[in-house]
Amino acid sequence: VLHHNTYLIDGELRKWEGNSTEVFSTISSTEIYKPTLLGSIPDMDEEAALNALGGALKAYDQGRGAWPTMRIGERIECMEKFVKKMEAKRNEVVKLLMWEIGKSLPDSEKEFDRTVDYIYDTIEDYKQLDRDAAKFKKQDGVYAHIRRGPLGVVLCLGPYNYPLNETFALLIPAIIMGNTTIFKPAKHGVLLITPLLEAFRSSFPKGVVNIIFGRGRTVASPIMKTGKVDVLALIGNSKSANALQEQHPKSNRLRLVLGLEAKNPAIILPDADMDLTLDECIAGTLSFNGQRCTALKVVYVHEDIREEFNKRFAEKVDELKFGNPWEKGVKLTPLPESEKPAYIQELIDDALSKGAKILNKKGGQHSDNFIWPAVLYPVTKDMRVYQEEQFGPVIPILSFKDIEEPLDDMAASNYGQQVSLFGKDVYALAPLIDTLVNLVCRVNLNSSCQRGPDVYPFTGRKDSAQSTLSVHDALRSFSIRTFVASKDN
Ligand code: G3H
Repeated sequence: VLHHNTYLIDGELRKWEGNSTEVFSTISSTEIYKPTLLGSIPDMDEEAALNALGGALKAYDQGRGAWPTMRIGERIECMEKFVKKMEAKRNEVVKLLMWEIGKSLPDSEKEFDRTVDYIYDTIEDYKQLDRDAAKFKKQDGVYAHIRRGPLGVVLCLGPYNYPLNETFALLIPAIIMGNTTIFKPAKHGVLLITPLLEAFRSSFPKGVVNIIFGRGRTVASPIMKTGKVDVLALIGNSKSANALQEQHPKSNRLRLVLGLEAKNPAIILPDADMDLTLDECIAGTLSFNGQRCTALKVVYVHEDIREEFNKRFAEKVDELKFGNPWEKGVKLTPLPESEKPAYIQELIDDALSKGAKILNKKGGQHSDNFIWPAVLYPVTKDMRVYQEEQFGPVIPILSFKDIEEPLDDMAASNYGQQVSLFGKDVYALAPLIDTLVNLVCRVNLNSSCQRGPDVYPFTGRKDSAQSTLSVHDALRSFSIRTFVASKDN
């Protein structure tokens, strides 16, 4: 059991002396059906949170601090130092990703490596920004030396499903652009940050990165209420984002960098390649048990191929291997949120009571921390599984005769992140794509939805996002364009 009580404020690793410790029960290494205690982390209070804010404010010093005024090359050196130290922690962090959030070994390794790549790509992109800044523009006799400046203090809150990749995709660009930061990891996927505390401490000047632990309402809210945060960077749900935004007394001054919910559909046309579509839909709906904002969360299959698709899809779901994340070939793993199996069960019960059936034999079987994915058909719009972002292992299927049916639903949806479109006829696909790109931000042709590669824009329409988070765009999201004008270059 890992009892961790160190946190990082103002360049110091401090020991938490408070009484309360947040206790995390999580998967056991020996018995997958019985969650056992993995470790604990300080349940910090308002005073600690405000100290962290104080560290960030001091280091920023209204833009006059050493970090925001530092030369770009020096900030790059700090980031390079950090990423090298982080790479040395790969085994430890990957192990904790498996233990803490139940992510399979290949996916945990991928998350770590992808995050490291993200940091190197950010450094390269930042160098390009610097090269661009060196160029002068001339207009009407005025020369402009355009650069990008930081925004101030950033409060950074990441999600449990990608505690490393998604969180660092906010934190790293925020830091490198010269902002100072307070970072609170999600409730699950928090212990895995602890091996990196020393790397943060020793790579950046004091106060640039402050890392605290605890609940949103006890540590994030007091920070927001001071009105001294310039950017709220959050990947998670809109309820938390809205609540925090409202607590800021000058919310019109607050910049938001948000990645939020989605209900990405798969649309399967009659001429789709059935084998490929089945494989992509399994990966899209059930990678990491469906706990991805980019997961396929509703499937629309054309009536002509519905019977074959439903039958084979249900069989494939039951063939997936369930087990501990480190076992070979495992695709389904225990769920880190203890309340998730009961929630998924509620969605299933609601759908069954309104006329849906479970198509797969194992669907809905569950234990303390796992529920076998249920494939539900026919799903209707009055069902909760259609309306809510399930973020877990349950797959609603609807059939359609006319393509306007799924398009109408997408137009009416509160979300607009991505879609997967399966079909072969390019003449039918082309006009459809022209419409779909106006409903969502990414159309995946004959492939499941996903965020990566991380150099591509990651965003959404409506309630799915505010801001864009590719490597390139994130640097811009955490900065502002400034310039020096002169009559002489
Ligand atoms: O939860 C949202 C993540 O950004 C999903 O990323 O598509 O690479 O799994 P992914």
